[in-house]
Amino acid sequence: MQVTFIWQEQVEGRWSQRQKQVTASGDATVLRLAREYDIKINATCGGRGRCGRCKVVVQGPLNEVSQMERQLLTKEELAKGIRLACYARPQGDIWVTIPTGETELLQILTEGSDQEAAVEPDIVKEFVAVPEPVLEAPDGDRERLLEALAGAGGRICQIPLGVMTRLPEILRQSNHRVTVTRWREHIVAVDSGDTTGELFGLAFDIGTTTVVGGLIDLHQGKELDVAARLNGQAAYGADVISRVEYASNGITHLKRLQRAVMDTLNGVISDLHEKTGVSPERISRVVVVGNTCMQHLALGVSPTYIARSPYTPAFSRQFDATAGQLGLAVNPEAPVTFLPNVAGFVGADTVGVVVATGLADRNGRVLMVDIGTNGEIVLSQGGRMVSCSAAAGPAFEGAQISCGMRAGEGAVEFVEIGEDVEVRVIGQTLPRGICGSGLIDLVAELLKVGIIDETGRLQDASELHGLPPKLVERIRTSENGAEFVVVWGKDTADGKEIVLTQRDIRELQLAKGAIRAGTMILQRILGIRDEDIDELLLAGAFGNYIRKESAMRIGLLPKVPLERVRSVGNAARVGARLCLISQAKLQEASRLAKSMGYVELSGRPDFQEAFMEAMLFPQSEEYLEFAR
Ligand code: FES
Repeated sequence: MQVTFIWQEQVEGRWSQRQKQVTASGDATVLRLAREYDIKINATCGGRGRCGRCKVVVQGPLNEVSQMERQLLTKEELAKGIRLACYARPQGDIWVTIPTGETELLQILTEGSDQEAAVEPDIVKEFVAVPEPVLEAPDGDRERLLEALAGAGGRICQIPLGVMTRLPEILRQSNHRVTVTRWREHIVAVDSGDTTGELFGLAFDIGTTTVVGGLIDLHQGKELDVAARLNGQAAYGADVISRVEYASNGITHLKRLQRAVMDTLNGVISDLHEKTGVSPERISRVVVVGNTCMQHLALGVSPTYIARSPYTPAFSRQFDATAGQLGLAVNPEAPVTFLPNVAGFVGADTVGVVVATGLADRNGRVLMVDIGTNGEIVLSQGGRMVSCSAAAGPAFEGAQISCGMRAGEGAVEFVEIGEDVEVRVIGQTLPRGICGSGLIDLVAELLKVGIIDETGRLQDASELHGLPPKLVERIRTSENGAEFVVVWGKDTADGKEIVLTQRDIRELQLAKGAIRAGTMILQRILGIRDEDIDELLLAGAFGNYIRKESAMRIGLLPKVPLERVRSVGNAARVGARLCLISQAKLQEASRLAKSMGYVELSGRPDFQEAFMEAMLFPQSEEYLEFAR
């Protein structure tokens, strides 16, 4: 059986159609076939058949539509030949068209709160004059270069084969005047002439959803430009656990994930080349942060045991590799340092945030929360730090929410309720769905007007008195239970209503309950009450886009006066940049990772009770007291 995949791809800013024909045997699903051939299909739930995101348009014979597909797809979609790739199995030759996903249009946070550090990278350039060869002295080019370096006060170095193969030509082209780039005892590059005036590095934050990279001038310590792309591993599941499961199915799967993230990093490098004109081979140092699983996958190291008790990573401390070993398209000898992790679910990205915000040195009691599918939380008191990770699930990214979507074009990102519902949409287009920040706003507003009660129950219209009629109209009961219409079909991009269901509210309660329970446990350990928290830092993209009032209103965050809450942007990448430009910061990162306490929430007897409590929404009077 032949399966022909058709999709759109963006090449140098332009969309073009791609096509690939593959042979199917057995009863593999369309999703499995696509993965085998590195064709990307959005599969938020990792192919478990729960998210309804792996929609494809199929022409040709397929297996029967499954029960689950009937639930996750509308009648109109099924009539148009739309199927879910993780259920669809070819029964003959088929054509599969992959829709251009929302993923291509994402709003990606590239900004970060900047701290500074004295510029002193661990990579240096030295200009050396190498003695020319003479008949009387048979020393090789390498030996004369090393001798010249030692004479100039340099350390004894090793020359890797990749540099060695080009050395004879470079020496002769440059009249034996060369610039050596050195990292510790390793020679990273030998260039013709004097290039000591330029030295470039890259700081990467590999997120589960997005990858952000900054090109850094290592003489100035300044960021020349930033670029971001979606993590190509998204086709293997939106969350860390789906990726771990996929990678644990054998070396081919692990390699596929490693290649997917390297392709993404290389895409970011090519974007940076386009933006700055700095060619990738001139980049000689790289520092990477990411959660523990992303670090493992980028290195091609199995993350299997991170997901199994006692959640042990393959490595915790700083790990160094070369760009060539990883397939990173910069100077292949460039050292690539992965910052240390704290534990299986508190990774180098959190260490990066701690470095960037100076958390360990801040006075008072500071709480840092990085909200995502896994929320990382650090509480610091006078230099003592404890951390934990809360499994919030993908609700904040719009997944498993009936009309949810990621924060891309067409996502409702802001909601206000007065006489009626007002929404703001990313890209100022007609709405297509609701993203995490919009969801938090929506629920906060519905709590405010009493349409949702403290337990999270959507009230029946008959139970509400004095509500504006336009709001009453929006409350209804469908075959799936109670729901609230956020945007009527006539006002959306595809004519379908955007609704909030009772189940969506429960999903949000689970997500926010996990994060809040994590903060509660850390507060208990250090004996810090909500009102004692001097500063509450929100890290990451989500922390940057949510309205603090709404996050507070739904009880996602501790009850802290709003002026103490601050977004610190993509601080993880800032941490990577600081470690790239400063050896002292790099050492500090290792020290902090080692000294930071870690609490495994699942091992705490009080976690369940805290979680149940945290799932409830705060009483309105309780909230008002702190929102003032
Ligand atoms: S439903 Fe197919 S990947 Fe989620």
